[in-house]
Amino acid sequence: MLAEYELGEVIFSQKEIEDRAAVLGAEISKDYEGKQLILVGILRGAVMWMSEVMKHITGDVEIDFMALSSYGALTKSSGVVKINMDLNCDVTGKDVLIIEDIVDSGTTLTYLKGYLEGRNPSSVKICTLLDKPTGRRTELEADYVGFECPPVFIVGFGLDVNQKYRNLPYITSVVTE
Ligand code: IMP
Ligand code: MG
Repeated sequence: MLAEYELGEVIFSQKEIEDRAAVLGAEISKDYEGKQLILVGILRGAVMWMSEVMKHITGDVEIDFMALSSYGALTKSSGVVKINMDLNCDVTGKDVLIIEDIVDSGTTLTYLKGYLEGRNPSSVKICTLLDKPTGRRTELEADYVGFECPPVFIVGFGLDVNQKYRNLPYITSVVTE
C-alpha cells in the first residue's frame, strides 16, 4: 500500500510543458542537423518528457533507455549511483543526448556522463525537464533545460514519490511540514 501525500499547487501546467518541449525540440533539431543523434532516456522518470520532446525532433533519431538508481533515502540522493539497465545500442561515434527528469545534486548525471563518455561517442549532452540549481553538489550543467524549479520535492509528468504520481500530466510538489 502506497502512502498518501498532500500535493501543492500546479507549478508547471501540461500546456506549459508541451510548449517548452516544442521549443527545445526545435532547438535540438537545429543543433543536431546532419548528426547521428541518439536519445538516451533515463527510466523511469524521463519517459513522459522524452516522448514529449522527441515529437518535435525532425530528422533521424534513435532512442534507447537506461535505468539508474541511487542508493539511500526516498527524497534525497545518496551520491552512489547504480546502473540497473544498460544501453542496448553502440554509441561509438554517435551524438548522445541524455533525457532526464530532474537534475538536483547532479550526482546521477555526473556519473552517467562520465560512463557514457567512456564509450567513445562523438558527444554527450543533457536535456532535462527540470533543473533544481539549489540542490547542486557538483559542477554539472544541463545543456537543455525545460524549467528551473524551486527547492521543493516535485512530482508529476514522470516524477514520483515512492512510485506515485508519475502519471499526473502536470508538475506539482509534495507538501512537507
Ligand atoms: P541528483 O543525482 O541529485 O541530481 O538526483 C537526480 C535524481 O533524483 C532524479 O533523476 C530523480 O529521480 C531524483 N529526484 C531529485 N529531485 C527530485 C524531486 O524533486 N522529485 C522527484 N525525484 C527527484
Ligand atoms: Mg531519475
